[in-house]
Amino acid sequence: MRWCSALVFSALIAVSWSVEDLTFPPGFKFGAATSSYQIEGAWNSSDKSESVWDRFVHDEPTRIRNSDNGDIACDSYNQVERDIEMVADLGLDYYRFSIAWPRILPSGFPNYISKEGTDHYNRLIDGLLAKGVEPFITLFHWDLPQSLQDLGGWTNPLSADWFADYARVVFTLYGDRVKLWLTLNEPIVTCDLSYITGITAPGVVSPDVGTYLCNKNLMLAHAKAWRVYDEEFKPKYHGKVSIANHLLWFEPQTEADTEVAELALQHLAGRYCHPIYSKEGGWPASIEKLLDKLSLERGYARSTLPAFTQEEKEYVRGTYDFFAFNHYSGRQIRWAKEGETFSQWPLGDAEDLNGKIEFPEHWPPTASSIFYVYPEGIRKQLLWVKQQYGDLEFVITENGLDTLGGRDDHDRISYFREYLKQILLAIREDGINVTHYTAWSLMDLFEWMDGYHSKFGLYEVDFTDPKRTRTPRLSAHWYKKVIKAHSLDVTVNDEL
Ligand code: BGC
Repeated sequence: MRWCSALVFSALIAVSWSVEDLTFPPGFKFGAATSSYQIEGAWNSSDKSESVWDRFVHDEPTRIRNSDNGDIACDSYNQVERDIEMVADLGLDYYRFSIAWPRILPSGFPNYISKEGTDHYNRLIDGLLAKGVEPFITLFHWDLPQSLQDLGGWTNPLSADWFADYARVVFTLYGDRVKLWLTLNEPIVTCDLSYITGITAPGVVSPDVGTYLCNKNLMLAHAKAWRVYDEEFKPKYHGKVSIANHLLWFEPQTEADTEVAELALQHLAGRYCHPIYSKEGGWPASIEKLLDKLSLERGYARSTLPAFTQEEKEYVRGTYDFFAFNHYSGRQIRWAKEGETFSQWPLGDAEDLNGKIEFPEHWPPTASSIFYVYPEGIRKQLLWVKQQYGDLEFVITENGLDTLGGRDDHDRISYFREYLKQILLAIREDGINVTHYTAWSLMDLFEWMDGYHSKFGLYEVDFTDPKRTRTPRLSAHWYKKVIKAHSLDVTVNDEL
C-alpha cells in the first residue's frame, strides 16, 4: 500500500505546478448539476409517494438547520422551462440531474408507473435536447421511496433487485434519448454518513452493522442496474453507465503518516471503488483485515463487513463505462498519539483507523464546516485512482464551493479556476484522461442538513419569493465565458 502514495508524491515533485496554456483539450465537456430532492419541491404532488427525505424532515424538522425542508425547494417541478433556459444560457454541454424514484414508481416497485412523474422528466429531457444540451441522469440521489425503507431499505439484500427493477423502468422510458447515466450518487453518504451518524435520512443509526450491509448491497445494486443496461439497452442505445463516488483526498501530515493516509483512502474511496474497478474485485485487502480485527474486538461473531462470494465479486467487477467522482475537499491525516481522543468519523476523525484529522492553515474553510479548499487534492486524487485502477476515462460529476450568498462571488470563480487548473495539469502532465467537468450546482438548492443556509449555485435563488426567482451570479457569467472560450483564459468584471 505504502508504495502507491510514495509514487503519487514522487510524480508530483517531478512536475511543474504552473500551467500556462489554459485551453481544454478538444472534446472536453462542461456541465452543471442538481438533484431531485434538492430542487424539485412538489413533494406530494399528484401520485408521488413519500421519500425517506420527506419523512426525515417532516418527522423532526429541527434535524435541519432553520427547520428548512425540500417541500418547495427551487420549485423546479413547476419551473422546468426556466431551468432549461438557464442551462441553455450558460451554454452547458450537458446537464446532470436526478430522477426521484418515488415520483416514477410511487410504490417503489414497477407494478405502477406514474404518468405525471414520467411526463415531468420527458419535458425536461426533450427541452434540453431541443437546446442542444445533453441530459445526464442520476438514477438515485438519496430519495429512496419510504415504502422501501419500511422494508429495511438498503440493508435488505433484496434492495439490489428493487433498484435494478426501477433502473429498467427508467432506461425503458428515457434510454432512447439519454446516453449518459449514473446509477448511484455517493453511496458513502447513503451508508456511512447515514448509518454512522443518523444526521441524514433515513435517520437509522447502526454504525457497525448497517453501514457495511448498506455498502455491500449498494455495490450489488449498482452492478445489477449496470448489467440491466449493458445487456438490455446498450446494444440499441449505445449509452454509458457508471457510479458517482465521493472522493475526499487524504494528505499525510508527514511521510511517517503515509500509511494511515492510504488506509483512509481505502476506507473511504476503496470500499466503494475496489469492488467495481479493481482487477480482482471485492473489498480492499487492508479494509477486510481492519474490519476483521475491529469486529472481533467489539464482540461480534464475524466481520461486520459482509464478505463477497467469488461469484458476487465477478458480478460487480468491471461494471463501469467510465470513472465518475464528486470532489470538493481534502483532509490532512496523521497517526493518533497515545491517549488522544477522537471526534466522529467520517466528518471528524478516523478513530477506526487510529487517525487524527487536521486542516492546514493555508486550506481556506468554506461556508460549511466539512469542506476546506485544497485544489491540488483533485490532481492527487486523480493520480491515486489511476494508479489503483488503471488508465480510465474520468468524469468529474461534482465540484463547487459553498458560500453564504451574494452575487459578486469572486471566491467561487477562484475556486472553480484553481480546481480546473489542477485538472488541466492532470491531463497535461500526468496523462490522465479527464473528459467532463461538472459544476455543482446550477442554482442554490436545499443543502441537506444545512437547509438553505449555504449556497452552491451559479444562479442565486430567492427562497423568500414564491416564484423562486433565479438570478445569475458573477460565476455564472464567468463559467459561460469559459465554456465558450474552451479555456480558463477569460475575465469578468462588471457583468452583474
Ligand atoms: C452531494 C450534493 C451536495 C453536495 C454539497 C455532494 O455530496 O452529491 O447533493 O449538495 O455534495 O454538499
